[in-house]
Amino acid sequence: MESNIPNQELITSKLAEAENLLEEEEEFHHLNNPADGIKPIIKKYLGTPNHADQLGNKFYFTDGDAKVEVVVVTDEIIRIRLAPHGVFLEEFSYAVPKLEHKATAFTLYEDEIEFRVATKSINCHIRKQDFFISFSDNNNHITSTDAVPMHWEENVKFGGYYVFCTKTCHTDESFFGLGDKPTEFNLRGKRLKNWNTDAYSFAWNQDPLYRSIPFYISVNEGIAHGIFFDNTFKAQFDFGAEDSTKTSFWADGGELQYYYIHGPHMMDVVKSYHILTGTHPMPPLWALGYHQCRWSYYPEAKVKKITRGFRENKIPCDGIYLDIDYMDGYRCFTWNRKYFPDPKKMISELAADGFKTVVIIDPGIRVDDNYEVFKQGKENRYFCRRCDDYFMEGHVWPGRCQFPDFTNPEVRTWWGGLFDELVQMGVAGVWNDMNEPAVFGAGTFPDDVRHQYDGFRGSHRKAHNIYGMQMVRSTYEGLRNIMKNKRPFTITRAGYSGVQRFSSVWTGDNVASWEHLKLGNIQCQRLSISGIPFCGTDIGGFSGEPDGELFTRWIQMGAFSPFMRAHSAGDTKEREPWSFGEPFTAINRKFIELRYRLLPYLYSTFWEHHRYGFPILRPIVMHEQDVKLNHFRQDEYTYGDKILVCPVMEAGQIQRNVYLPKGKWFNFWTYEIIEGGKEVTVPTPLDTLPVFIKAGSVIPEYPVMQYVGQHEIEEVKLNIYYTDYEVNSFLFEDYGETFAYEQDIYLEKKFVVDGNLRKLTISQSMEGLYTPRYEGYHLNLIGLPFKPAKIIADGKAVNDFTINTDGTVEFKFSKNFKYIEILK
Ligand code: GLC
Repeated sequence: MESNIPNQELITSKLAEAENLLEEEEEFHHLNNPADGIKPIIKKYLGTPNHADQLGNKFYFTDGDAKVEVVVVTDEIIRIRLAPHGVFLEEFSYAVPKLEHKATAFTLYEDEIEFRVATKSINCHIRKQDFFISFSDNNNHITSTDAVPMHWEENVKFGGYYVFCTKTCHTDESFFGLGDKPTEFNLRGKRLKNWNTDAYSFAWNQDPLYRSIPFYISVNEGIAHGIFFDNTFKAQFDFGAEDSTKTSFWADGGELQYYYIHGPHMMDVVKSYHILTGTHPMPPLWALGYHQCRWSYYPEAKVKKITRGFRENKIPCDGIYLDIDYMDGYRCFTWNRKYFPDPKKMISELAADGFKTVVIIDPGIRVDDNYEVFKQGKENRYFCRRCDDYFMEGHVWPGRCQFPDFTNPEVRTWWGGLFDELVQMGVAGVWNDMNEPAVFGAGTFPDDVRHQYDGFRGSHRKAHNIYGMQMVRSTYEGLRNIMKNKRPFTITRAGYSGVQRFSSVWTGDNVASWEHLKLGNIQCQRLSISGIPFCGTDIGGFSGEPDGELFTRWIQMGAFSPFMRAHSAGDTKEREPWSFGEPFTAINRKFIELRYRLLPYLYSTFWEHHRYGFPILRPIVMHEQDVKLNHFRQDEYTYGDKILVCPVMEAGQIQRNVYLPKGKWFNFWTYEIIEGGKEVTVPTPLDTLPVFIKAGSVIPEYPVMQYVGQHEIEEVKLNIYYTDYEVNSFLFEDYGETFAYEQDIYLEKKFVVDGNLRKLTISQSMEGLYTPRYEGYHLNLIGLPFKPAKIIADGKAVNDFTINTDGTVEFKFSKNFKYIEILK
């Protein structure tokens, strides 16, 4: 494959290079300068590839100086790396903990025009003329191609290179992903930056925000692919903004290293992205309930008043939060004993009433020699330092602070251990805040702060975007270690790709406005397809005052967000679900109850995420990417696979249009059957919001409880929606709070529903080692086109069934049934 005879083009290009050098030298000769011979700093582009080498699943191409590595990761994932002068950096990634090589077969081909690395599903082409890299599928369809060769520019100040990649942007190409960007869902025409930033009361289009997720999905001509630019430095993405024919991404340092992830469906891309960066562990079931937060509930009497308020108002709630005021002078891991004289007793009393206490922790550690955490950090040299060895000091809530270097594994272990006392007191979850890291005045750390970076050393330029992720990683791992077999709950503000392995996230300091409700909807959908499934907004808006209507509409959307928490800033009025009086209290209760009824559905959807890499929220474009109009839909989404929701995001709205993807749908409230593939107008009085169920779905339901585990579950309701084509549904069950599922102690149930005008059939199969304690199902058949005369379950007639006035049919049967027929 290697040829020693240079081709004509190569000779021409080498001659041109030599001429350029001569010209440059001539220029230098005019200057009486000792720096004679040093070339000016300019962008450099890959030349022509003249050589290919193979080392297992890695292929190397060089233009004589720069080197490009092509790694076959799976049949659908190929990684590209560039080394400007032929020397690759040591391989290390916080996002991809273990690069598994799962491709079954791959081959290198060469002809006059190109080198081509082919897997079973895709091809990576390296064009000989200009080193353009492109990708195609098995049908010779080019999905991605360089518009200029990969390039770089030397960074004289810090060393290394600014690295750039520019691809062709097609007229009809759409772009999705990048985490939490507060802008339209389709990123076409936008330029966006990744640099974790504390963005109090952020605005529409403000960029960057708290998280850096350098992963986007392109959809062009109905085919999707993803690009994951695994580079932690400040990075930018341009989706046809500067030049509508080009898509570029670049970073201030590190390596030009990206993964091409083939679809053809957006869902395939997201699932493959999770193969690289991991999925969220199963959360404790209670964490899927409702959470109440505020800056801050204190003293203890206030906390108790709030939790009592939930029980008195019969509004379910599981999580109660303590914001910074529980601490002594905002010193992490301490308590303000004036406000909380006996935290252990308080937490256990709260627990007895079903509340799980979540406490906030910030990375800023007060400089105070009488403070144990500071003393330990100082003695052990755990705090970050500047380039000249001074400590990194800055102001945050406690005043002057130093900051642990969470990129150091020893520091992470220490920090993780600090939670021991909180856990012994009964704390169930930890809220990781201000970890962009935020510093008052300065914004964040200066670039010259040094980080251990798991032995791979770097300045803050390299570590900034992963600092928050490593903080919450350390928290999660510490909690997991201390809590043994119990699942910890963590939430973080900052993050980088892969943060989902350690934490849920919320969208940060939003505002109580209708615009922010819309923004929150988009951000949650975006986070979901960017690998962060467990996400939510501050319900009601953090700063500012929502009125009852806005709060209620937000609760409604929150009931269908993966994470559901109300939170508000300290200078706002009371903000509990009953604060706005009637009719709002009753509607808020109705939707929080609905959240609890649907817990087994959400929990099963979470399992689909954890085990198979599906997001929890799925935007419309993910269901029908071949319909161009859908690339611009950003209001409606599905919650899991079966429930379509469209939040109401305007004041006084009494009806709105909702798009339903193709297939049959049931209106959740009226059971009306609607043929999808079009927009429908739906009434939206305040006590409802558009919710639709896919025909053929089995939606499991728990009885309403005031908190998870309040009562033993005696039966599970299965709502079965009629269909005249076969539809599968899943139900996942396990202990809900341990890691036994990692040892296969769980039950994965599959229901298959099918029907015609004379009958409906439901079959159930199960896999796994868990046995739920309840005995029976309460089956509820919805939308039957006939009046049932007979029900036969596992060969036996069921005589006891009820036909209700709304046409639904109810009966009870064993949870172990295999096959049920409902006959006309
Ligand atoms: C930050 C957080 C906010 C929290 C506040 C006080 O602004 O984003 O949620 O309440 O700090 O800790």
